[in-house]
Amino acid sequence: PVVILLGPPGAGKGTQARRLEEGHGLVQLSTGDMLRAAVAAGTPAGLAAKSVMEAGGLVSDEIVLAILSDRMAQPDVAAGVILDGFPRTAGQAAALDDMLAAAGQCVGAAISLEVDDEAMIARVAGRFTCGRCGEGYHDQFKQTRQEGVCDKCGGTEFKRRADDNAETARERLKAYHDQTAPLIAHYESMGVLQRVDAMASIEEVAGALGQLVSALS
Ligand code: AP5
Ligand code: ZN
Repeated sequence: PVVILLGPPGAGKGTQARRLEEGHGLVQLSTGDMLRAAVAAGTPAGLAAKSVMEAGGLVSDEIVLAILSDRMAQPDVAAGVILDGFPRTAGQAAALDDMLAAAGQCVGAAISLEVDDEAMIARVAGRFTCGRCGEGYHDQFKQTRQEGVCDKCGGTEFKRRADDNAETARERLKAYHDQTAPLIAHYESMGVLQRVDAMASIEEVAGALGQLVSALS
């Protein structure tokens, strides 16, 4: 199935997509991760995206769609995908509908992670990840069991994103409300919208999402 995770920065899209990937054999496709990889590699798309991302704005549909459609064409995604952070604009949603229709597929579920704006700023501002395996942590909400050592891989180097400060997070939240939140109505009209309370604990949200995804396959 094709599962979309919708939600503002810090709602837990990445955290939950990784859980679903482990538990359900779906492939996480994060346009944010793909764009950060393009920035790190210094590709033309990455060069164009860098300043927009650092300011908390949305990268152009053209760039995002080129990156995403390349990835969707690879064979490992055939069993199903979790789209994490895509689509984010009406144009991206329409392009996705067309892309899936051309392949005889459709969106199985669009899951809106519903959260409180101020809590999101706090979640994003304290976040860091393992530099080796990518596992996500948080200064307050999800510390490593042993200080400075990744629970998953034993790695000892961690990184923080350039856009994970309170000021840029507010811009990202504004972009979400202006350009992405309207997609909720689009998926509601298609009959595939599901709302999940994402203020609950990571485990509780994972349980709710697991049930929704199990019901699809
Ligand atoms: P992207 O990488 O997609 O970032 P985002 O949407 O801002 O989302 P985040 O990764 O910040 O948050 P998340 O919802 O994944 O939360 P997480 O699980 O990490 O995009 C970055 C930028 O790229 C954009 O600003 C834009 O410029 C560009 N971009 C990307 N896609 C684009 C597109 N399609 N079109 C145009 N531009 C695009 O959780 C956050 C923290 O909270 C973690 O520390 C986690 O441990 C903790 N946490 C999670 N859940 C819970 C919980 N239930 N309780 C307590 N803590 C929790
Ligand atoms: Zn690790």
